[in-house]
Amino acid sequence: MATADELKRAAGEAALSHVEDGMNLGIGTGTTTEAFIRLLADKVRDGLQVTGVATSERTERLCRELSIPMATLEELPKLDLTIDGADEIDQSLRLVKGGGGALLREKIVAVASRKMLVIADEAKLVETLGAFPLPIEINGFGMIATYLAIQEAVGELGLSCELILRRRGPEPFITDSGHLILDASFGRIPDPHALSNALLKVPGVVEHGLFLGLADEALVATASGVRHLTA
Ligand code: A5P
Repeated sequence: MATADELKRAAGEAALSHVEDGMNLGIGTGTTTEAFIRLLADKVRDGLQVTGVATSERTERLCRELSIPMATLEELPKLDLTIDGADEIDQSLRLVKGGGGALLREKIVAVASRKMLVIADEAKLVETLGAFPLPIEINGFGMIATYLAIQEAVGELGLSCELILRRRGPEPFITDSGHLILDASFGRIPDPHALSNALLKVPGVVEHGLFLGLADEALVATASGVRHLTA
């Protein structure tokens, strides 16, 4: 029986065959992407030429430590491919992301890329999104007002959720872009597009972790091999 770490590594290894010499690569955040980054660094040491754009400070640090050439999105505003993990993946390759708190930069980088490839282990595959709490990145100004506006917007869709301010120890978690995160437990999200539209109408909401129509392909590692899913 393969461990979760072995499955993450298998997904990362499979992703390497999608990376071509000379590519400008969006590099995601999370433990699965870290497995990929370590394998990518070996290839770079062997002569592969790529330039990475990180989706978080944490990824930026790891890539630099491993001597992967890095640039900013300002320097490379159009990318060939982004490789990133996910917290949930449904059959249409709709995702929940942001468990690591990097959802805003992850979405900006994914949108700047010609293609988004998701890497994950099979535990991330779901029938319906929503069992994993949906991260909602909000501005710190008027946090309570934004909290109430989200509850109202969600209620108008006939949904309800528990909203919890993410913390790191006793302090609120602060994203790389200086915002807060509310984790919204829905249980099920029957209509992700409707929820996305409703959340984005709340002015204090900066972004949310629903990635809809962004993932082109997914490599999902299972005990019996890596499944290649396309949108
Ligand atoms: C980071 O903010 C997330 O979007 C990650 O991509 C997601 O949480 C998957 O992380 P793991 O690979 O660690 O499960």
